[in-house]
Amino acid sequence: MHDDLTRWLDEARRRVAAMDAEPAFEHVGVVERVGDGVATVRGLPWTRLNELLEFEDGSQGLALRIDGDAVGCVLLGGGAGISAGGAVRGTGEIIRVPVGEGLLGRVVDSTGQPLDDGPPIAAERLDPTDRPAPGIVDRDLVTQPLMTGLAVIDAMIPLGRGQRELVIGDRKTGKTAVAVDTIINQRDSGVVCVYAAVGQKASTVNQVVDAVRRYGAIERCIFVVGESEAPPGAQWIAPYAACTMAEYFRDRGQDALLVIDDLTKHAIVYRQLSLLLRKPPGREAYPGDIFYIHARLLERAAKLAASLGGGSLTALPLAETLAGNLTAYIPTNLISITDGQIYLEPKLFYEGQKPAVNVGMSVSRVGGQTQAPAIKALSESLRLEYTQFLELEVFTRFGAMVDERTRGTIEHGRRIRAILIQPEFRPYPLAHQVALLLAVHEGLLDAIPLDRVDRLKADLGAWLAEACPRAVARIQETQSLADGDRADLLAALGDFLNRPAAGA
Ligand SMILES: Nc1ncnc2c1ncn2[C@@H]1O[C@H](COP(=O)(O)OP(=O)(O)OP(=O)(O)O)[C@@H](O)[C@H]1O
Ligand SMILES: [Mg+2]
Repeated sequence: MHDDLTRWLDEARRRVAAMDAEPAFEHVGVVERVGDGVATVRGLPWTRLNELLEFEDGSQGLALRIDGDAVGCVLLGGGAGISAGGAVRGTGEIIRVPVGEGLLGRVVDSTGQPLDDGPPIAAERLDPTDRPAPGIVDRDLVTQPLMTGLAVIDAMIPLGRGQRELVIGDRKTGKTAVAVDTIINQRDSGVVCVYAAVGQKASTVNQVVDAVRRYGAIERCIFVVGESEAPPGAQWIAPYAACTMAEYFRDRGQDALLVIDDLTKHAIVYRQLSLLLRKPPGREAYPGDIFYIHARLLERAAKLAASLGGGSLTALPLAETLAGNLTAYIPTNLISITDGQIYLEPKLFYEGQKPAVNVGMSVSRVGGQTQAPAIKALSESLRLEYTQFLELEVFTRFGAMVDERTRGTIEHGRRIRAILIQPEFRPYPLAHQVALLLAVHEGLLDAIPLDRVDRLKADLGAWLAEACPRAVARIQETQSLADGDRADLLAALGDFLNRPAAGA
């Protein structure tokens, strides 16, 4: 009996000694309240802001507000499996999403899980969604253009790689269309495009993906979707996740474009979450840090210094106005954060002037210096001529008699306006834009009926490729217009406009 006990004790000692156990802390609290996409938990005194919390059902949440012992948490899942009294574990981590080439061509949710029918994402690594922006010494000047393929923007409001440009306008004025055309135009430029949908209907997102699949290079695009049906927490982090995915390419020395569609809906989701978590509301009931959270996000767009690889991240946030009110809280915030805005006006849209860019109220504070020399030379006087024409046109609406010179200015302005109208999904290559601007600049179109200008726009690409392929190739390559090529283009334009068929 005694022997048995000794043997048993020895065995127990041996097993304890062989055990490989370390003391560990688990940070476990209790759910106090849950509902509407948020939860309040207690008993997690070490939780930090933005820490990732894990619930019993495996779903996750983010600590958005810490008030004494109570932690206000935004749910990233639906919250159906969470109930009051359940356990919640602090992870000590912040939320991370997959990054890498494996995401290219994919549609994912805001945590990086696939939403298309493809295989699981093969990620390079997991990066935090909230990363600090590059400091001033890490940045370089914005020197390269980001062509949108939309003549009105590339000629008058040019964008540079690394810039932040707001696309703003009322609902249904073509904001998404501008962004999609810009993505499509990157099919030959090598820029990686990341589209973040915040609070959009699933059908709208599908249309965007389909358009890029049909006309663009979808194999260099990522779609991060926090659709309107998704939990508010998932909608809220979508732009951060998308930004992290885009930064991976920026930090590798590549050029990336981040479209956020749109930040007004993002602000509204953040307001909803903040009110539910009882953060003190400020102007228009938005929490006081709404400016900070948008500025911090957009600040991550940058052109990096050569020592860091020289990559760039261009941000194209979208924002919706109500009845054209640019002075509302969120629009003014965003206008002051970004390096310029493209304002789309409903009146122009209904008149058929699409893209409905109001040139007078749009500006690009950075891109001018990056504009391709070929376009710059031709568009210097364009903006002035165009705005003068718009003023004069208002005048003549009242039936005022005008002299010959004014009539000339008006006819010229009408031609400018005509070449700026551009259908969706058909961004113009550089040489095409140069030829159009050259035709206007030289007054070749002034005596030609407006409907023939439309034909010119539609057929010009094919005509140029046939009539002067070498000039086209040189313009595309050097981005400038040599004298010889200019003469070639003018000759080709002359032939085109004099074609008997075109005159019929
Ligand atoms: N350049 C264009 N030429 C012809 N149609 C266009 C053009 N741009 C946009 N549209 C059409 O206008 C409609 C509204 O465009 P879009 O959805 O881009 O606007 P939005 O401002 O993003 O709208 P929302 O407020 O719903 O987000 C769409 O049906 C689109 O096809
Ligand atoms: Mg839209």
